[in-house]
Amino acid sequence: MRKPMLAGNWKMNKTRDEAISFCLGVSGKLPLDVECVVCAPAIILRDLVKRAPSNLAVGAQNMDYHDSGAFTGEISPIMLKDTAVSYVILGHSERRAYYNETDETVNLKVKKALEYDLKPIVCVGEVLEERESNKTNEVLKRQVLKAFEGVEIANPADVVVAYEPVWAIGTGKNASSDMAEDACKYIRDVLRTIYADKADEIRILYGGSVKPVNIKEYMSKPNVDGALVGGASLQADSFVELCNYQK
Ligand code: 13P
Repeated sequence: MRKPMLAGNWKMNKTRDEAISFCLGVSGKLPLDVECVVCAPAIILRDLVKRAPSNLAVGAQNMDYHDSGAFTGEISPIMLKDTAVSYVILGHSERRAYYNETDETVNLKVKKALEYDLKPIVCVGEVLEERESNKTNEVLKRQVLKAFEGVEIANPADVVVAYEPVWAIGTGKNASSDMAEDACKYIRDVLRTIYADKADEIRILYGGSVKPVNIKEYMSKPNVDGALVGGASLQADSFVELCNYQK
C-alpha cells in the first residue's frame, strides 16, 4: 500500500545545463510504479520542473521556516511553492552538521512545509559514536518525536522520513539491510505512538551509500519503502538503474 520511492539528493551539484541533460537521459526510462524524485539546488528548480519527464517529481533540499522577511540568503516555502516543486528535504545531516539545523528548526520547517502543501522528506540518523554506544534508537526517537511535535498529518502518503545513518553517508560504508530494516521499523513504531492509524502509510526511506548493486537488498525489507541517494543519483544511467531495481 506504500508506493516505493527513489529520491536523488543532488546536494551542491549540477548546473542548469547538466540538470537538463539528466532529464533527457532519464526520459522514457523511469518506471510508473515507483515514485522517482530528484532534489536539486534551489537555483535550478524552476528549469528542472519544466524539463523533468512527467513521472519524475522535483524537490528542494532545504527551506526557511518563515514566509518572508529579512533572512538574507534564505528561500521561503512560498518561493518553493512558486517553482512548483513537490518535495523538500528537511533536516539533512549535512545541514545539521554545517548549518546549525536543530530538531527544533526541523519541526518548524515540517509545519511550514505542510502548511504550503510541500511534501517533507524528514532526515534522521545517528552519528558513529552514537551507534557504537548503542544510542541509535534513543537518537532516532528524539529526532522523530521532535520533528513531528504538534504536526497534524492530513495525508500520510505525503510525508516521508529518511533514515540516514551519518556514518554511512558518502563513505561507501553502507548500513547492512538488516540494520536499515531495524531502524526503519523502529522509526515506524515511534511514528505509531503519535499517528496510531497513519504510521503504516508514511514512507520511510534508507539513505547512505545506496547504489545500483545494493538497492534491491534494501527494497526487499518490509519497512524500507525506498531510498534517498546522493552520489549514485547524479548520473542519469545510474539513477535509471536505481529506479528500476525491480527489473
Ligand atoms: P550518498 O548516497 O552519497 O551516501 O548520500 C546519501 C545522502 O546523504 C542522501 O541524502
